[in-house]
Amino acid sequence: MGKINSILLFCSIAIVILLTIPVAHCNIAQGPKAVDNWFQKLSHAKQKMTKLHFYFHDIVSGRSPTAVPIAQANSTSHSPTAFGQLAVLDDRLTTGPEINSTTIGRAQGIVGAASLEEFSLLMSLNFVFTNGKYSGSTLSLLGCNTILNEFREMPIVGGSGVFRLARGVATAKTHTLSKNGDAIVEYNIVVLHY
Ligand SMILES: *[C@@H]1O[C@H](CO)[C@@H](O)[C@H](O)[C@H]1NC(C)=O
Ligand SMILES: *[C@@H]1O[C@H](CO)[C@@H](O)[C@H](O)[C@H]1NC(C)=O
Repeated sequence: MGKINSILLFCSIAIVILLTIPVAHCNIAQGPKAVDNWFQKLSHAKQKMTKLHFYFHDIVSGRSPTAVPIAQANSTSHSPTAFGQLAVLDDRLTTGPEINSTTIGRAQGIVGAASLEEFSLLMSLNFVFTNGKYSGSTLSLLGCNTILNEFREMPIVGGSGVFRLARGVATAKTHTLSKNGDAIVEYNIVVLHY
């Protein structure tokens, strides 16, 4: 009886631990067999085009920033373009520009100031969709973000879930830039996928 009780106690502790760790959203849970099957059927699959539109909330100030600097070169502080600075972000993606607009996912990745002469970021991030039509799927962006330009075109180089083998183009436009550096950026994305 004591043994059963301790097993039950152990199980409930394990369940509590599992429940407190949020479910990972990065992938639709499919094993390698399902992925193999998907590729087997690919020759009959029709390519489709999907357009996405959302806002990206880059919060660098305050008590709970979603973008944090992680490293920089000694020379970064003397650079007019912050060359050499790296940051990690987990920015909220929403349907509209308002702060209370519906969350559809997160932009998670690393960005770095990669130009000696202009404000330009190397963007390497995943759009992780957690809500709505594309929940459980991701798109990967790898591009050059010249942040002072009105429009910045960046490649979408892949995806997962419904966006397997996706490729496309993201266009970013700054919607709001506040004095403390927080930014709301509008993203339009067009992708081809199956
Ligand atoms: C960077 O600055 C620190 C402190 O001044 C110094 O110890 C270090 O050698 C410098 N690193 C490089 C790569 O110059
Ligand atoms: C968001 O907040 C504004 C006021 O700050 C309010 O007028 C609006 O209805 C809210 N929208 C939603 C979707 O909750």
